[in-house]
Amino acid sequence: MTEAKKLYIKTYGCQMNVYDSERMAEAMGGAGYTEVQSAEEADMILLNTCHIREKAAEKVYSELGRFRDLKDAKPDLKIGVAGCVAQAEGAEIMRRQPLVDLVVGPQSYHRLPEMEAEVRKGGTALDTDFPELDKFAQLKARPKAKRGPTAFLTVQEGCDKFCAFCVVPYTRGAESSRPAARILDEARDLVERGVREITLLGQNVNAYHGLGEDGGDWSLARLIWALDKVDGLERIRFTTSHPNDMTDDLIEAHGTCAKLMPYLHLPVQSGSDRILKRMNRNHTAESYLRVIERIRAARPDILISGDFIVGFPEETEADFQATLDLIEAVEYGTAYSFKYSTRPGTPAAERAQVDAGEADERLRRLQALLTRQQRTVQDAMVGREMDVLFEKPGRQEGQMVGKSDYLHAVHADAPNVAIGELARVRIIESKTNSLAGMLI
Ligand code: 5AD
Ligand code: SF4
Repeated sequence: MTEAKKLYIKTYGCQMNVYDSERMAEAMGGAGYTEVQSAEEADMILLNTCHIREKAAEKVYSELGRFRDLKDAKPDLKIGVAGCVAQAEGAEIMRRQPLVDLVVGPQSYHRLPEMEAEVRKGGTALDTDFPELDKFAQLKARPKAKRGPTAFLTVQEGCDKFCAFCVVPYTRGAESSRPAARILDEARDLVERGVREITLLGQNVNAYHGLGEDGGDWSLARLIWALDKVDGLERIRFTTSHPNDMTDDLIEAHGTCAKLMPYLHLPVQSGSDRILKRMNRNHTAESYLRVIERIRAARPDILISGDFIVGFPEETEADFQATLDLIEAVEYGTAYSFKYSTRPGTPAAERAQVDAGEADERLRRLQALLTRQQRTVQDAMVGREMDVLFEKPGRQEGQMVGKSDYLHAVHADAPNVAIGELARVRIIESKTNSLAGMLI
């Protein structure tokens, strides 16, 4: 028997890349590879990259440079670049960094094993096509391994929204949804392997409209209701959503579907209507606030999360103040905020940029406000009773760590609770980045 070859995958960026990396590892398992945790032991290194902001791509190039010594020591080592930098830069990656043997875009992962075989013969391989098929259905997985209690499941990819700052419509292509039957099969399989909580992923997940099991066109809410019936699955989440796709049935599901968790990540990017228009968001601050109001009417305790960009071209102090006002109005439980980063090829790249020092200062002020809100929302959990899905042992003897319905990390003294168990907990203390709880 030949010895298994070793694959090291380093994942950058969003949760969809985490999911893709798992699928690539499984597919390469079928080609005789086992996954390892360090580049030093690997026969093949894959960087699954992110292109959303400038620094992300630069990190990839500097990481690639560090592999030179490894490749000198082991000439058979193959290096591949996957993900959105691969899609955006294509063959340019191999020109800029000749250490790279293989470049594979996010829509071509099913071809990875054959591309690996190609580069083993010498030479390079490149595939950044957008084929019309469900790549996940094409990926051949190795025998089923046991899994932890939480998993991602990609249900939708790509985006047709074309926000003026964003590369996603170019790197991930047009919106497409996987058929519900495949998603349900995958969910049932995950549950058999130990998964209790599934997060449905899509760049625009609430725009999901896939082929239903009844032959009809299913919305995300419809899909969630079908997943609700999967025995053994305890929790359903989804991310990331666009405000304009928060349909009535999805809002309603937050009030009526017990497995759907009270947490909504709903990016708004800015609170200024003038900037929202320039961003091509197709909604206003007011319409966003109305969606939040409706979702809170359906599920009063829901935790709201958001994304913000500061220093978008032409943003004035008054525009920025409107963003702070919107944040005050919403009260976010958690949020991600970024300084605008020019992405070549996007409409906003051509426009007058905000002074970098000014943008830094705005980001600092915005993050100070968001951190305060996050803390207030977390502190308000103290004294409440809630379910925690325990995921791993804590630092102290007998301690376990898990997540609440609201996605807060909770640790508790729970020596008899198993990984993957949902247990009822009373929250007794709010710490910097977690809650302390007591089993009831
Ligand atoms: N600059 C800064 N932030 C960006 N995002 C997307 N594109 C850019 C960019 N060019 C942020 C948005 C999005 C999140 C995933 O990344 O807030 O919601
Ligand atoms: Fe990018 Fe999201 Fe806008 Fe689509 S909706 S273009 S993924 S920011």
